[in-house]
Amino acid sequence: MRIVKSKQDLRALVSGWKADKQEIGVVMTMGALHEGHLALAGAAKADNDRVIVTIFINPKQFDNKADLETYPVDTDADLQKLEDAGVDLVYLPQVNEIYPKGYSTTVAVGTMQDCLCGATRPGHMDGVTTVVSKLLIQTSPDRAYFGQKDFQQYLLIQRVAGDLDLDVDVIGVPTVREDDNLALSSRNRRLSEEQRNIAPTLYKVESAIADLIRQGEAVDHVLEWGRKIILDSGFERIDYLEIRSEEDLELISDVTDRDDLLSGRIFVAAWLGNTRLIDNYPISR
Ligand code: PAF
Repeated sequence: MRIVKSKQDLRALVSGWKADKQEIGVVMTMGALHEGHLALAGAAKADNDRVIVTIFINPKQFDNKADLETYPVDTDADLQKLEDAGVDLVYLPQVNEIYPKGYSTTVAVGTMQDCLCGATRPGHMDGVTTVVSKLLIQTSPDRAYFGQKDFQQYLLIQRVAGDLDLDVDVIGVPTVREDDNLALSSRNRRLSEEQRNIAPTLYKVESAIADLIRQGEAVDHVLEWGRKIILDSGFERIDYLEIRSEEDLELISDVTDRDDLLSGRIFVAAWLGNTRLIDNYPISR
């Protein structure tokens, strides 16, 4: 496995692979890798001749300084996991490699931005779409893999690739979960034992809401019930618990056509202490 820190070294390797007509898959991460990231690397390996994983904690997507400062870093363990997963190349740039002095361009999507994490984390989505655009240009892959846990991020990146004519397939990989169905996240490492026991409530509530909606219960009513269960379980605050279209994140309510409702997705973000957890779940599952 090669490890490169500069875009020049990255380009040199990628150009060689392209000259040999090898197909390239990329997985972008902020490190602190878990099985969810390794599932993305596995999907990339299955579809491509070469796999690149990027590790870069992107300061532009943190709306909260404390979150950036406490974001887990475990590079040695990450590199070992990627080596074991058969990754070909790890791109590990420093901040000034991505945002050199004078850097001033932002890639901002005009739709699907002002809801969910876009509404509750100002600047976060622009930070994501900016860094992902740069990393797509720098790695020049045939395919790029993103976890569906960050469903809004995945849809926005698809939009960027389409709108900017980037020649890449953006592929969404289903969320990987613990045995108790907690969605894997690097932030789970920050949970205390007590918080870790509370965390799976998000999934329990989502799956119960999906069942109730399929049985014909009213949307407003079940969402209100779900909010109460989440707060009663020990979460301090809910940023959102909503049902939205998985195509364009349009809000779904009791006036929505029933077929559209059944093809919608439940989205949740809630706080356990200083840790914000997100998840989503399709109603039709
Ligand atoms: O999902 C993430 O870890 C990040 O948002 C990403 C895609 C690596 C961009 O920094």
